[in-house]
Amino acid sequence: MTETTMNIENAHPLDKWVTPEIAARNDRIEIRPVALEIKELHKSFEHKGKVNKVLNGIDFTTHKREFICVVGPSGCGKSTLARLVAGLEQKESGHILVEGKEVTEPGPDRGMVFQSYSLFPWMSVKQNVMFGLTQSGMARNTAEAEALQWIDLVGLSKFVDAYPHQLSGGMKQRVAIIRALANQPKILLMDEPFAALDPKNRLKMQQYLLEIWRNIDITIFFITHDLDEAIYLADRILVLDANPGRVKEVVKVPLPRPRVDDTLLTEEFLATKAYLESLVHPPETEDEESMEDKLSMVRMVPVNAEVPDIY
Ligand SMILES: Nc1ncnc2c1ncn2[C@@H]1O[C@H](COP(=O)(O)OP(=O)(O)OP(=O)(O)O)[C@@H](O)[C@H]1O
Ligand SMILES: [Mg+2]
Repeated sequence: MTETTMNIENAHPLDKWVTPEIAARNDRIEIRPVALEIKELHKSFEHKGKVNKVLNGIDFTTHKREFICVVGPSGCGKSTLARLVAGLEQKESGHILVEGKEVTEPGPDRGMVFQSYSLFPWMSVKQNVMFGLTQSGMARNTAEAEALQWIDLVGLSKFVDAYPHQLSGGMKQRVAIIRALANQPKILLMDEPFAALDPKNRLKMQQYLLEIWRNIDITIFFITHDLDEAIYLADRILVLDANPGRVKEVVKVPLPRPRVDDTLLTEEFLATKAYLESLVHPPETEDEESMEDKLSMVRMVPVNAEVPDIY
């Protein structure tokens, strides 16, 4: 076999989209210090005496200021992984290191934003953002000044004294993000933070987040079901496989930054999405029940009998 044919066989399907600028950016990321290192991580849950292996030897390393998205089928252990890194769950075995320090419990070096709005409903926007700061010993007026700056950064100055129930979903998530960031964590863990928002607000929030990330020294570990969202945001996408959860592939996103609205329409974006689809939803194998088989069990009327042609 000649060297040329070997190279073609070894080429990754997305390699053709990696421009010299993108390759140079990837190289620059890889030489940055490590922010998060996950080594041979295992996690099982026990339910009624039965052991459910959820994560089966996860190995993954991120570098400082990298934007990582995590995708994978429902139930593959994405939230469990985020909770383990947050220190909210205890691992079975393996290592989780944040800037070289083993995670054993929650700590100020990791901020967390969940899908459900996790603001304190009895506190105003300002009080919510100040909470972590005063808890960590900051004087009240310094905390207030800092909180106001963060609130201004996400365009919510008019809402400093509003309560969470007076805010839209997108506004609540902006407060949740700055509340996490105000404590200056090294890593921001986000578990489907925008899943409850409509598509327009979701895109706006993604743009907000990229803008914030560009301006501060933070590594983001962002879980999502939405492949468009993952590609739009990430430097690399960690694709997990289910039952039990393990790393299927780590995909480097071959798109330049900054990402803009039109990014979603480019050929390289669509190629990346098609590739991710093939990883997350591989073609059915023969022994799997097809959707058609499942639908036939729930059909109430024969097709075309009473239902008008929907195509
Ligand atoms: N506290 C718990 N006790 C028992 N089992 C749990 C617990 N938390 C999660 N699991 C199980 O672990 C598996 C992975 O759950 P997890 O929530 O991490 O998946 P996920 O990838 O985030 O799913 P989704 O995409 O639906 O959010 C599931 O089978 C779930 O039932
Ligand atoms: Mg989840």
